[in-house]
Amino acid sequence: MTEIKFTIDGKACTARPGQTIVEAAKANGVYIPVLCRYEGLKPAGSCRICTVRVGGRPVAACTQPVAEGMVVENATPELEDMRRAVVEMLFVEGNHLCPSCEKSGNCELQALAYRFRMLAPRFPFQWPLRATDGSLPKIIMEHNRCIQCLRCVRSIRTEDGKGIFAAQERAGRMRIGVDPELAARLDDETARKAMDICPVGAILRKEVGFAVPIGRRKFDRAPIGSEIESK
Ligand code: FES
Repeated sequence: MTEIKFTIDGKACTARPGQTIVEAAKANGVYIPVLCRYEGLKPAGSCRICTVRVGGRPVAACTQPVAEGMVVENATPELEDMRRAVVEMLFVEGNHLCPSCEKSGNCELQALAYRFRMLAPRFPFQWPLRATDGSLPKIIMEHNRCIQCLRCVRSIRTEDGKGIFAAQERAGRMRIGVDPELAARLDDETARKAMDICPVGAILRKEVGFAVPIGRRKFDRAPIGSEIESK
């Protein structure tokens, strides 16, 4: 198999044909932050937190395949500030009250805010009023925390392949809808998977909370990205 040679921030890297920049970066010990991307799912390219520059042009690293001789800029001050701005926008667009959230310590948005040293967001808080849906048997939908990454839409299905989650409406009014009849058929394992695949605390398992104490969770133990950068 032909090996592709390229660089990220001057570091010589190699990739397999067809690998995206995110995949190849990870294989070479370089962390590029992602939010809507999830291992094993077709990339959506919607959140833009993974934006890098290739030949001076911004591209989504989770969808762009690596090409021979590609010169990728990743951890530049400009791109890091752009990523921090994306995180800040997501924080002000929803209601993310980390200290009271069951996902705290396992939340990718929170972990990225720490990584980018976010303090007060540069944008005004919107304080949206969105109803929380506790009517489903296994899960709680906390729409105030949803960042519309669509990971749940793309991944969670019934045994016969029907999607349980779906994007409803568009743009500023978009929200994730749940089919109540299909959601009623969710088994414990799939409900757990739905919670785990959500990068924030928008999908929570009912009756199973704080099983791992705050302080001992994934990003309490190691910052996001460190498992790739320490390779
Ligand atoms: Fe690439 Fe969201 S992770 S656009």
